Amino acid sequence: MPRVFVTRKIPAAGLLRLQDAAAVTVWPGEMPPPAEVLRAQIAGCSGLLSLVTDRVDDALLDAAGSQLRVVSQMAVGVDNIDLDACTARGIPVGHTPGVLTETTADLAWALLLAAARRVVAGERFVRSGNWKTFDPTFMLGLDVHGATLGCVGFGRIGQAVARRAHGFGMRVLYAQHRAVAARAAQHVPLATLLRESDFITLHTPLNPQTRHMIGAPQFDLMKRSAVLINTARGAIVDPQALYAALHAGQIAHAALDVTDPEPILMDSPLLQLDNLTITPHVGSATLQTRDRMAVLAAENLLAALAGARMPHCANPQVYGTV
Ligand code: GLV
Repeated sequence: MPRVFVTRKIPAAGLLRLQDAAAVTVWPGEMPPPAEVLRAQIAGCSGLLSLVTDRVDDALLDAAGSQLRVVSQMAVGVDNIDLDACTARGIPVGHTPGVLTETTADLAWALLLAAARRVVAGERFVRSGNWKTFDPTFMLGLDVHGATLGCVGFGRIGQAVARRAHGFGMRVLYAQHRAVAARAAQHVPLATLLRESDFITLHTPLNPQTRHMIGAPQFDLMKRSAVLINTARGAIVDPQALYAALHAGQIAHAALDVTDPEPILMDSPLLQLDNLTITPHVGSATLQTRDRMAVLAAENLLAALAGARMPHCANPQVYGTV
């Protein structure tokens, strides 16, 4: 049986599929395997099942050996993987789009609503014994209904976030290179979106073009009442510019599920701010979705081991068709 290395415990639904067709080793640690351990573990393997926390680069592919036939990532984003290096070696890279779209859009909305209505601050206030009475001028948040939502990036997840906005009677703007046919969403330049949106939500992949695409010049354009939501990748936002904008009250609030670096350092000044809401990269973290992701990652991996085209390949040019 071909050997496969899985870099962390994954839901059983996916693992069982793999174990039917491969000799599987699962890294047992709570933390990701350190790079040198991963290099040692992958030597001689035909398949690697990776997570966003694993760096897949030339050094790792060299350490694996020429029998490595597939890298399958249990995530939609693959910015931790050197796709060119994989393609150059003829290695298809799997990923898991589609199955996590709605779940991630739900979390973007959870963060948006929590930030707008000060849910986390309210919870802290109550638990610390400060709730003495009803106060007509206390803990005033922002209206979500009727506000303008700006989606930066309008692929599957951006569009799923926008669909939910219609239930709140929101005006929806989106910025990305190409226009898409979307119900009641207006394609605008990024500067217009930043100027006009009350809630700005990020849904682009991380790549050299999008790294720090939200920095000081972009915060300058935003409303003082704006809320920034990031469930995509931390490095799309320049963290120093974000701190400066939040600290100076240049925008009202940021709600982040992803940070740069990740995890956020405990001495990050961002964690001192009351106008920051933060969760630990849990956009796709529901029981159902993590099962679906594990199964899809297993299916991608097994298809490649069987010499078939994988259902979801992040570097389709490896097949010579794109
Ligand atoms: C998670 O961050 C993913 O890309 O699926």
